[in-house]
Amino acid sequence: MTTQTIRFFQHNALREVHNVPASRTVLQQLREHDQCIGTKEGCAEGDCGACTVVIGELDSDGQPVLKAVNACIQFMPTLDGRALFTVEDLRAADGSLHPVQQAMVDCHGSQCGFCTPGFVMSMYALYQNQPAGAGLPTRDEINAALSGNLCRCTGYRPIVDASQKMFEYPRVSFDREKLRQQLESIRRTETVEYTTPDARGAAFGSPTFFAPVTLAEFARLRYEHPDARILAGSTDVGLWVTKQFRDLGDVLFIGNVAELKSITRDAQALTVGAAASLENAYSALGSIYPEVAELWTRFASLPIRNAGTLGGNVANGSPIGDSMPALMALDAEVVLQKGPRIRTMPLDSFYLGYQKSALEPGEFVAAVRVPLPSVNIRFRTYKVSKRYDQDISAVCAAFAITLDGSRVKTARIAFGGMAATPKRAANAEAALVDGEWNEENVEAAMRALDLDFQPLTDMRASSGYRSKVARNVLKRFYLETRENAPLALHDVNAFAFDAQ
Ligand code: FAD
Ligand code: FES
Ligand code: FES
Repeated sequence: MTTQTIRFFQHNALREVHNVPASRTVLQQLREHDQCIGTKEGCAEGDCGACTVVIGELDSDGQPVLKAVNACIQFMPTLDGRALFTVEDLRAADGSLHPVQQAMVDCHGSQCGFCTPGFVMSMYALYQNQPAGAGLPTRDEINAALSGNLCRCTGYRPIVDASQKMFEYPRVSFDREKLRQQLESIRRTETVEYTTPDARGAAFGSPTFFAPVTLAEFARLRYEHPDARILAGSTDVGLWVTKQFRDLGDVLFIGNVAELKSITRDAQALTVGAAASLENAYSALGSIYPEVAELWTRFASLPIRNAGTLGGNVANGSPIGDSMPALMALDAEVVLQKGPRIRTMPLDSFYLGYQKSALEPGEFVAAVRVPLPSVNIRFRTYKVSKRYDQDISAVCAAFAITLDGSRVKTARIAFGGMAATPKRAANAEAALVDGEWNEENVEAAMRALDLDFQPLTDMRASSGYRSKVARNVLKRFYLETRENAPLALHDVNAFAFDAQ
């Protein structure tokens, strides 16, 4: 169906917004058109969290979920069928503060106040998602929930305190069943073609925002509109608009296609649908490879992981993207679909050059398949960046070897930040395979890395630094996985933090 109306729930009522440009952000709508100015703009690129809002949507079981996202990089049509909660929604009708707000007051969690609405909304999502009877969230869980919010004056301790204290006040209930019914009432059952008017008010000839709800429809539209821009979580594409002022043209939104959000596991592999959120994808991956725990929490922030997808990370194929080294080391495959045709290829064959992939016109990434752990696998990932949280990697490395006794049977080593694409280290791998897992062979592999990579110097790191880090993390992998290594897995994560 063709429409010029976006339907969503806000302030507990149905909102219908007509004729807004498809690339208008939720933040622009709130601040510049609705005069709903509690939500702030800091960076307009998903970094500072001042714009954090909470989105309600139905999951695959038809149950409502609430998640914090950055309003500055979400486009208005993606709100269709969802509910939007902003800081204005928290205070009760009688004017009393929500426990989240009261705790911020009582713990002195705000000074200039610019960051406060964003923190409050991240805390609100944490509050609502804490299962009844589960006790207080741990400090690590609170830190993860607040990882996308920056404060430049208060400091974080009082805000973390408030995030614990908010659970001590009488619980404010939230009517999930009512939200479920609201979302159900506006759920689309067929593809929406949202056309935006041009300057004269005519919709004809202006870009279309396609939002299909089935995989078959998505595949058909992709085939018929190979030049349309696929939009998933918008955590890369959003910045093309807010920072580079790019015109997106026709857009094909993947976020309402339930089949592409599914995550399944069989006897051989974990299959993550391309539209599964990064948070859900890493949660599933972490359940079979706990070694990704650190990479998971250091991938951007929770609001970015709530919005962004694994498919978007893989398709975008940034040389400094974080998922690809781990996926390559684990021998993952990409499932590609073009119309009804489906093919798979190893992820390490998918990238042909800088921002160039094997995707054909009309084709898209449908899923990523990750083999289950093989016997005697040793696997680790290491992200090296200037800041521990919420930063892009200078170097991201992943190592997976299988051992036959003390002999290396297979070795898969992959790096980000070392070449024009995420890439395996063929020479270093060859130096290890069939040899003993010992220091001498590892040092030979470290030297071989210089044959594999001649990294660039840029604002994140110099070429020399990258090469040295690459060698050193390989050594660290050995030290952590050699026979009788002193570090258990949880110690490894703690050590990684101290080492920054
Ligand atoms: P989108 O922005 O919607 O799309 C990205 C690209 O992929 C577009 O070209 C789109 O057309 C294409 N695309 C999307 N889905 C498909 C598909 N199924 N088939 C074919 N093409 C498709 N990345 C990291 O790796 N590590 C980080 O730590 C990190 N931190 C970040 C922090 C911030 C503040 C921000 C804003 C971004 C960060 N990113 C990081 C980048 C980004 O979050 C990831 O690349 C994310 O996985 C992109 O997914 P998305 O769903 O948002 O993709
Ligand atoms: Fe900074 Fe949105 S304004 S994250
Ligand atoms: Fe001023 Fe946080 S209170 S930036």
